[in-house]
Order: sequence, then structure tokens, then C-alpha cells
Amino acid sequence: MTDKELIMQAVKVREQAYAPYSRFRVGAALLASDGKVYTGCNVENASFGITCCAERTALFKAVSEGKRTFTAIAVVGGADSAPDTDCFPCGVCRQALCEFCGGDFRVITGTVENFSVFTLEELMPHSFRM
Ligand code: THU
Repeated sequence: MTDKELIMQAVKVREQAYAPYSRFRVGAALLASDGKVYTGCNVENASFGITCCAERTALFKAVSEGKRTFTAIAVVGGADSAPDTDCFPCGVCRQALCEFCGGDFRVITGTVENFSVFTLEELMPHSFRM
């Protein structure tokens, strides 16, 4: 699974985003250590605070199916029909990823043609862990 292929899966699942309030659609593709990919989109709610981000949708799907270790996540998002810029995981999602992923876990964001790669350590230094 290449970074580009993971981004392509995030682009595809973004089509399922339920975002009638923000109109900001996000897709995420999470790569488990065994090579399986878990995808997720943002799912909004009229009670805004209970909205679930795409990254946590993917993560919770994977964990609920028994996966505990992951190597990378691709995230794409934007307000328009096609995302054209980086879309970083929010702070809540970074913390959620820290529960299961080490500092070398890779976060890939951008577009199919032009994406960047960061480590979780770069995005979430000095994270809270127990
Ligand atoms: N959103 C995500 O899906 N992931 C993030 O990391 C940041 C924000 C969603 C939540 C909401 O549906 C929309 O983007 C606007 O905040």
C-alpha cells in the first residue's frame, strides 16, 4: 500500500461524508499493521458537538474489529467538491491516534497529486499518555 493509494482511498470515502452543517467534507484511510485499510468520513449532527471526525470514524471502526496497531493514516478534506490543500487531524483526533499509535506513525495529507507526510510525533509532541 503506497501513500498515494492510501490517499486515493481517503478521497473515495470522502464521498460518504455527512456534512450538511459545515459543508466541509473529510475522508480518512487508516493503515493497520497487517496491511488492512479502514476508512472513515466525518459524520455531523444537528447537535454539533457530537460530530465525529473522519479520522476517529476510521480509528473506531478498526479498533472495534480488533485492530490495535497502525502505521499510517491519509486524510483529505475541503469545502469544495475536490480537496486541494492539506487537511490535518484536529487536536481531539491527534489525541485519539496517540492512544494506539507511536511517534513514528505517519500522517499523510494533501491531494493525490501533491501530498505531505508528517509523523505523529511532529503533530503531537509531548502527548498525554498513560
Ligand atoms: N473534521 C474532521 O473530520 N476531521 C478533522 O480532523 C477536523 C474536522 C470535520 C468535523 C466537521 O464535520 C467538519 O470537519 C468541520 O469542522
